[in-house]
Amino acid sequence: MTKKRVAVLISGRGSNMTALIAAAKAPDYPAAIVLVLSNLPDAAGLVHARQAEIATAVVDHRAFGADREAFERALDARLQAQGVEIVCLAGFMRLLTPWFVKRWSGRLLNIHPALLPQFKGLHTHRRALAAGVSEHGATVHFVVPEMDAGPIILQAAVPVIAGDTEATLAARVLEVEHRIYPQALRLVAEGRAALAAGETSKQ
Ligand code: GRF
Repeated sequence: MTKKRVAVLISGRGSNMTALIAAAKAPDYPAAIVLVLSNLPDAAGLVHARQAEIATAVVDHRAFGADREAFERALDARLQAQGVEIVCLAGFMRLLTPWFVKRWSGRLLNIHPALLPQFKGLHTHRRALAAGVSEHGATVHFVVPEMDAGPIILQAAVPVIAGDTEATLAARVLEVEHRIYPQALRLVAEGRAALAAGETSKQ
């Protein structure tokens, strides 16, 4: 089996990255994590990636000022250099321009801590509690230029329980994130989930 070469882009603790690395250790998993890339040199996830003997790189967005595309060209160069075929965003806290998104169209995945299309954007657990929903969860989707709007690959729901705080709800959601991201990457790597042609240009 030829494994798809995957990069994980992070900005923080990298627990989803760690889940992907763990899943990819299975001999029958169709993807190999060949690079962990961070926009922040002190992202905690980099330490875990190095411990797992995965190649790491840092492209610090602050070096590029307001020129987002220049930052992304540097990211892209790193991805090309490692022969990356699929990119997984996992807590990567930079908005990507249409240039990058289109370049990686159909090969760019993100995990969002909510049941999209509910609660796009930040502070999803706080907003879910404030809205009084009985179910919350996580979504893995293809990235399109519009934020948190791409076609859904997998979702998983968790109950909101009386007395939940942002922290308890976040922890419950994180458990399902770690389960569905490896499953979704498997689907894409095996060609069982794909971005339909009409959906690539969605703005
Ligand atoms: C996760 O909740 C993910 O859904 C969101 O950012 C968080 C990243 O956590 N996009 P981690 O760095 O994977 O632990």
